[in-house]
Formats: sequence, C-alpha cells, structure tokens
Amino acid sequence: MSISFLKNLEQIMPYVGGMPIEELSRKIGISENNIIKLASNENPYGISPKTKKAIQDFIDFNLYPDGSGYELIKTISKKFNLDPEQVVLGNGSNDILELAARIVVSKNSEIMFSEHAFAVYNLVAKSIGAQENIIPSKNYAHDLLAFEKHISKNTKLIFIANPNNPTGTYINKNDLYRFISKVPSEVLIVLDEAYDEYLDEEDKSEALKWVKDFNNLLVSRSFSKAYGLASLRIGYGISSKAVIEMINRVRQPFNANSIAQVAANAAIKDSPFVEMSYEKNKEQKLFMENAFKSLNIDFIKSYGNFISFQLGSADEAVECYEYLLKKGIILRPISNYGMPKFLRVSIGTPKENKTFIEVLSEFLGKNK
Ligand SMILES: Cc1ncc(COP(=O)(O)O)c(C=O)c1O
Repeated sequence: MSISFLKNLEQIMPYVGGMPIEELSRKIGISENNIIKLASNENPYGISPKTKKAIQDFIDFNLYPDGSGYELIKTISKKFNLDPEQVVLGNGSNDILELAARIVVSKNSEIMFSEHAFAVYNLVAKSIGAQENIIPSKNYAHDLLAFEKHISKNTKLIFIANPNNPTGTYINKNDLYRFISKVPSEVLIVLDEAYDEYLDEEDKSEALKWVKDFNNLLVSRSFSKAYGLASLRIGYGISSKAVIEMINRVRQPFNANSIAQVAANAAIKDSPFVEMSYEKNKEQKLFMENAFKSLNIDFIKSYGNFISFQLGSADEAVECYEYLLKKGIILRPISNYGMPKFLRVSIGTPKENKTFIEVLSEFLGKNK
C-alpha cells in the first residue's frame, strides 16, 4: 500500500525561481562576487539605510512575532488612510494570493487569470483542484473584455497582476475600474500590485481607494521588489473588513515573522530610498530598451523592473540563457509561461546592465 496523494497535485510543476547566485557559483566555479543575478526582479540597490538599522537593532529572536502585525498594519493603514481592519500581512505577497483562494475557492470551482500571468495563480488553482479559466492574452497583455465575457456562475476568483510579470504589461486605471465595476460582487478580484512602486506617478494604482467602492476587491502589495526585502518574505493585502476577517481565520497565526515586520515598517517610511529605486530603474530600463533596439531584439514594453525579450527561436533562447550562465549572468527563462522564445531580464545596476548587454551582443555576434 502506498499513500494516495491528491489527484489534483499530479499536474503541479513546482515553482522554479531564478537560479541562486550560490548555485551558479558551485556549478561553474566562478566566485559569487563575479556573478550577476538578473533573474528574480529584486532590488539591485539592496535596502535603505534606515531599514538596515532596524534589522541590525532587532534582538527578540526568542519571542514569537506579533501575530496581529499591530505596528506594521498601523503604519500601512495610516499611509493609505484605511482602517487597520482592512489590512492583513502575508509571508510575501504570495501568501496573500494563496489565502485569497482559500477563502472563496473550493474544488471544481473556477479561478480566472490571463495567459502569461504570474505562475503562482496556476499553482494556487491546481493545489486546490480548482478549474483554471485561462483567458488568452492580447499582445501579451490581459484582455479584460474577454475576462468579462467568460465570467460564469462557477467563477469564484479573478487574479489580475498590474503590472504583470513576466510580460511587464499594464492596464490603465480607467479600463481596470470599469472592469472591476462589471464583475459580479460575489466574485473576489485579487489585484496583484507587486510592482506598483515602479510605475510613473500618473500610472500609480488608485485601487487602495477603490476598496471602499468594492467589497470584493483585494489588493496585494509586496515588500520584495522596490523595498528590497525579498529574503524576509513580507507583503500585505488590503480589502473590505469582511475579506480580511476571513483571511485572518485561515492564515497561519505567525505568517509574518518579526524581523520582516520591523524591517517593512522602517522601509515603508523611507520614501527617498523607494524614489531612488524608481528613478534608477526608469533610467536603466531606458538604457536596456535602447540597447535592445540597437541589437535588433524585440522586447515587450515593461512597466516593471524587468523586461522580457525575444530570441529567434526557443532553442536560441535556451542557448542564450546557457551562454550567459557560463559568463556568470543569471536570467530567467520563461518557457513555463508559454513564452519559450523569450528570456526575462531584471533591471540591475548600470554596471550589471552594461555587462549583460556586452555579453548578450557577444552571444548574438557568435550566432550570426
Ligand atoms: C506579479 C507578482 N506577484 C507576486 C509576487 C510575489 O512576490 P512576494 O511573495 O515576494 O511578495 C511576484 C514575485 O515575483 C510577482 O511577480
């Protein structure tokens, strides 16, 4: 007799993140200092000095975290003019995405999301045994009109990433608001805004205000990107009190650890660091776009801190990825997103980006 694992788990491919620097160092024997990782949309400028100090001053390792997240939730709710009962912390924003599904989706009910959308939506659906309703993208972007047409009685949850990863595409505020107002109020909409801090001021989300209009809207935000706290795993969700109350019933009691809470509380108050990260990203994204143009490489215009670019074939994308790896540069293949000819590169520091473009040119020169 062997264990009979759940049928719905058979189809799950475990999430594969960007290759860690240590792993490449072990594999090819280059020192970690000489490796450039542009694979996980992390902040290449690290964390703010104030956040660093908060982490260094933390000593209460022996105590459980504040399971209510009181201080951080107070800061978040003050910043966005919300009631603290509208905020919940997550072990990364991934946690919020999973918890959202757990409060509304049962086996065989349906989760809707776009083709080429963030991989975790798929994992969440499969792990519950829910139906996935994957809406074909339009020019790699979410096609909200098609979403609207396909909503059925069975649809319990809709995931929308804005900007989306790995395509970097963006839905403008009017279209998004219009869509949300068309979705039946019994369907939970999760608006995943992990990259909001990288948007230009006029494009920045207003969805935190919309939660007053729509009880079925849950906005997720991350500290992993512009705030530089990917390793600590901290994010948050903002919604109606009813949604947050349900999430509080099912989440782990200590899903946000103490250092993460302390660090995030310092990070969110240190706006100059986030502004610097945004400015640098904007400048360097332009550098990358211009370099791609001069190399005649097609890319998708991105609103995040990464760009997906296209090689001549799926084989060439694999060769390019491996060539770069040998030179100590880690990118992200995205064939698992249905984009086998593409690679995704995170926007790094000026030096990292310059090196990446040089090595990419070298590869393309060899392949001529
Ligand atoms: C669109 C999107 N949402 C959510 C996440 C999860 O981020 P985290 O769990 O680190 O907050 C990511 C990470 O890459 C992402 O790209």
